[in-house]
Amino acid sequence: MPGGLDIGMVGLGVMGRNLLLNIADHGFRGAGFDTDATKLAALHDEAGQRPLYGATSLAELVSWLRPPRAVVMLVPAGPPVDTVIREIMPHLEPGDIVVDGGNSYYGDTELRARALAGKGVHFLGMGVSGGEHGARRGPSLMPGGPREAYESLRPILEAIAARADGIPCVAYLGPGASGHYVKMVHNGIEYALMRLIAETYEVLKWGLELTDEELHHVYDTWNQGELSSYLLEITAQIFARVDEVTGKPLIDVILDEARQKGTGKWTVQDAMDLGVPVPTISIAVAMRDLSALKSERLMASRALSGPEHSFRGDRKQLLEQLRSALYACTIVAFAQGMAQLRAASVAHGFGLDLGEVARIWEAGCIIRADLLKQIRSAYQARPDLPNLLLDDRLGREIMARQTDLRAAVQAAAASGISTPAMMCSLGYYDAYRSAWSSANLIEAQRDYFGAHTYERIDSKGTFHTHWSED
Ligand code: 6PG
Repeated sequence: MPGGLDIGMVGLGVMGRNLLLNIADHGFRGAGFDTDATKLAALHDEAGQRPLYGATSLAELVSWLRPPRAVVMLVPAGPPVDTVIREIMPHLEPGDIVVDGGNSYYGDTELRARALAGKGVHFLGMGVSGGEHGARRGPSLMPGGPREAYESLRPILEAIAARADGIPCVAYLGPGASGHYVKMVHNGIEYALMRLIAETYEVLKWGLELTDEELHHVYDTWNQGELSSYLLEITAQIFARVDEVTGKPLIDVILDEARQKGTGKWTVQDAMDLGVPVPTISIAVAMRDLSALKSERLMASRALSGPEHSFRGDRKQLLEQLRSALYACTIVAFAQGMAQLRAASVAHGFGLDLGEVARIWEAGCIIRADLLKQIRSAYQARPDLPNLLLDDRLGREIMARQTDLRAAVQAAAASGISTPAMMCSLGYYDAYRSAWSSANLIEAQRDYFGAHTYERIDSKGTFHTHWSED
């Protein structure tokens, strides 16, 4: 019988199993449990000589751990998390630690943390990013909850996390559901960046009629410069992949309907509750929804016409404009996500250090990008920065690329190629830098039809006008 183990893992799917192997590779001893016997067997096969043990029940798993016992759950978000908590709680004692490493909704995490705290058990909501490879070789970890629980797990978390400049991509983010909130917004930014890249693909494919091989080279080249990021790196690789069944480029046999598990939608819903504009993230969610309307799109493609897609202007110039536009929009997407984190930190009392958030995203996670170093520096120089666009350097970067962004969306619009995320990013930039907005008209309209009153620029108070004689 094993005993005194450092950590238990509940859920031995791809993420749980790989995280456990990663933990064992760093000298810690652990055990795993899963209701699916094939997953337990897979752990057994992959563990080799590592000090990892498969438990046949939650009770057994817990009994093998040293106090305070730490159990990490990596099960699908939603009811499975509550099921595990319900079943494991009778075996835990005050001071023990439960970590939810899934993509749980932060509101659920708040409730669970409160319920467990009532029984003296610490609950950490921890975002884990990096997919299967990250879990195995070094993820970015975003833990939030009771600090003492984090400190107790810190040696393990720091050992297994990815490293940027030698420093582990993990930090204590704050109390409550701060960890899951940060992971949710990470995913919202992920949706936006994926959408922006997909829009460049549409323009390159239909406007410039590039082949998949050429697309591979373009993205590979872009990834060598300022745009260097994990998402661009995998995009370049995707275009080089051949389908084993048909011998065609794999990308061309993949159905063009994007699915989603909810984190992008939650980001946008919560941004709206906070009153934080995140239009690039929001349109990315909407465009996944629109992509899923495949049968309607097929009907509409026959019923509705538009201009010829192929671009007649300077091809080399458009290629360069698109690259530059993608960088500008990437800055905007991060600016929106970070602005949301800033507001959420105040509203929910998370006390987030946005420089630290940027730092732990520099390696291991899906949105890792060279740009994050600049984002980190921006917050280190000015922790209370309201928006990344107000950082001197990032502001200059986007101003220097705005002409290219305008040209790229103009070319796409003229060719009938849909680039709403780029347009939203540009619209956000133009609106954010406007001292005057047209909202005076909206206020007048509200007062006209609903007597909602308005404020004046020349005196304090609220005013109402009788707009019509009837
Ligand atoms: C990560 C990813 C990961 C997952 C996404 C996919 O950071 O490792 O974000 O958590 O792949 O949640 O989300 P969708 O299915 O909604 O695209």
